[in-house]
Amino acid sequence: MLEQKQSEQLSIIIDKYRKQKGALIPLLQEAQRIFNYLPIDALSMIGKELKISLSKIYGVVTFYSAFHLTPHGKYSITACRGTGCQVKGGKKILQVLKETIGINEGETTNDLMFSLDTVSCLGACALAPVIVINKDYFGKMTAEKVKTIVGQYRSTDIPVCEP
Ligand code: FES
Repeated sequence: MLEQKQSEQLSIIIDKYRKQKGALIPLLQEAQRIFNYLPIDALSMIGKELKISLSKIYGVVTFYSAFHLTPHGKYSITACRGTGCQVKGGKKILQVLKETIGINEGETTNDLMFSLDTVSCLGACALAPVIVINKDYFGKMTAEKVKTIVGQYRSTDIPVCEP
C-alpha cells in the first residue's frame, strides 16, 4: 500500500507521461526516485492507469539493472568488476567495500543507507579501479580511500566529491 503523498507524486508522474508513447522507462525512472525502488503497488498503479499489463512492466523492470524491485539504499554503490579495474586492484576494492559496509553484492544495509552492486565496466577505465556512489565517480581507489569516502557518506549523510 502506497502512502498518500507517494501515491500523489506517482499520479503526477503518470499524468506527465500519459500521452507519450514509449515513455515507460523514463516514467519508471522517475517513479523509482520517489520510493528508491519500484514497489509492486506502484507498478500496479502504473499498469492500471496506462493500461499496460503488469507482466510487460515486469519485463522492462527486470531487464534493466538500474531498476530495483526491493528497497534500495539511499546511497547506491557500484563497484567495477571489469578487467581494467581488476588488474589495478578492483577485487580488493570490492572486498574492502563489503567489509566496510557490511553487506555483499546485491544487498542493502538494514538502515537502507547503502546498497552494493557490481557492473562489468563503468566506462571510466582510465581511472581504474573505479566505484560510483549514486552518480558520483571515484577513481584510482585504494582501500583507505574506500573507508574514508564511505565514512564521509555515513557520518555526514551528505554526498562528498573527490578532490
Ligand atoms: S573496467 Fe572498470 S571502468 Fe572499465
